[in-house]
Amino acid sequence: MTAFEVIRKKRDGGNLTSEEIAFFLHGYHSHQITDYQMTALLMAVFLRGMNADETFALMRQTRDSGQVLDLSSISGKKVDKHSTGGVGDKTSLMIAPIVASCGLTVPMITGRALGHTGGTLDKLQSIPGFNPQPSPQKVVSLLKQVGAVIMGQTDDLAPVDRRMYALRDVTATVESVPLITASILSKKLAEDIDGLVMDVKTGSGAFMPTLKLSTELATAIVKVCRKMKTRIVVLVTDMEQPLGHAIGNALEVREAIDFLNGRSPKDLEDVTLSLAAHMIHLGGKSKTVAQGLKIAQDAVRSGRAAKRFREIIRLQGGYERVMDDPRILASAAHVQRYRAPADGYITRCDAKLLGLASNALGAGRHRMDDTIDPAVGLYLERKVGDKVTKGEPLCQIHWNDDHRMRDALPLIRQAYEIKPRPAKPRPLIHAVLTG
Ligand code: URA
Repeated sequence: MTAFEVIRKKRDGGNLTSEEIAFFLHGYHSHQITDYQMTALLMAVFLRGMNADETFALMRQTRDSGQVLDLSSISGKKVDKHSTGGVGDKTSLMIAPIVASCGLTVPMITGRALGHTGGTLDKLQSIPGFNPQPSPQKVVSLLKQVGAVIMGQTDDLAPVDRRMYALRDVTATVESVPLITASILSKKLAEDIDGLVMDVKTGSGAFMPTLKLSTELATAIVKVCRKMKTRIVVLVTDMEQPLGHAIGNALEVREAIDFLNGRSPKDLEDVTLSLAAHMIHLGGKSKTVAQGLKIAQDAVRSGRAAKRFREIIRLQGGYERVMDDPRILASAAHVQRYRAPADGYITRCDAKLLGLASNALGAGRHRMDDTIDPAVGLYLERKVGDKVTKGEPLCQIHWNDDHRMRDALPLIRQAYEIKPRPAKPRPLIHAVLTG
């Protein structure tokens, strides 16, 4: 078998065997197969697709290129949640403490900002002192003490995925259902978890903008998890407009703290608590999802989840007083309002454009080695469905740099659309798929 033969078979529309996929991935891991050969295979997969068996084999080989966490010393069920990436999506910050405070273990390995989407790790790093890379021994001890850890990908977690993703990012092969499925699950299923709740985003700010593609991705994820015997629930949730009000790292942490202290916008509350409810149910802490929802609501209302978040921050080296005084977080030198150019109803508040605007201000990165400004971003005062009058503020722009502000403004202008009549509301949760 040669790399050439494997690439040619996929190029011509054939189905690869698990031996062929293992051969290719081992060869790539040991640098016998080159980046340009891997790039050719990725493009062939992008164009020809993969069936469920191939996707499963690709996920397994990618996962097994590194270490799988060993959490056998921790009793009880381990569950996690993962999102395919959105704008203003800070749900992980609240879900980890909510679910941990309900008696489950949450080993949450999470990522950095990519493209127009934000990253949980960048958000957490806006908390002074927060350590996103605890040692493996520390991870186990944190999980035993507070039931949750939120950490970045280590070098030995699915290392081949990192190299493949870097190639996909520059060769227009990211938006492929089998490649995304294998990539995400290779990392999530290295966490030694019993159950996973996936939030597959759909809409302009999602990797998969149409409901058809998002549902295809959700179905592929369910199939692989089923083969792995990992309990799975996938929620397909809306990302046509950002979630909540805040976009940008410190602004989002502030919104997460407000949430845990009982103040939340409705859309953020509905998505966060639904995801938490499914995790509580998957982990066996409730008989039904509806009961899981009540348990999650109670964790927030009673203050238990806020207390747990404080402990997570403290034990990961962060300055816990941020929970009492979010003004400790970085803030931008300037705050300017973008105002409604006309009377009417907001019919669009485009997630992708607002994500790009927030990036233009410095909240995200174009390349993996770009630095992030934790203070900048947007705070949406009005969203789709709201009636506005000309001159009324639509959003706050938190900025530090004149040039960046000039780049962001046209994107914000383009993101908002105002019409005389309201648009038909989109559902927040489009579908729920279970394994
Ligand atoms: N996130 C990942 O980890 N991988 C992908 O392929 C897409 C999003």
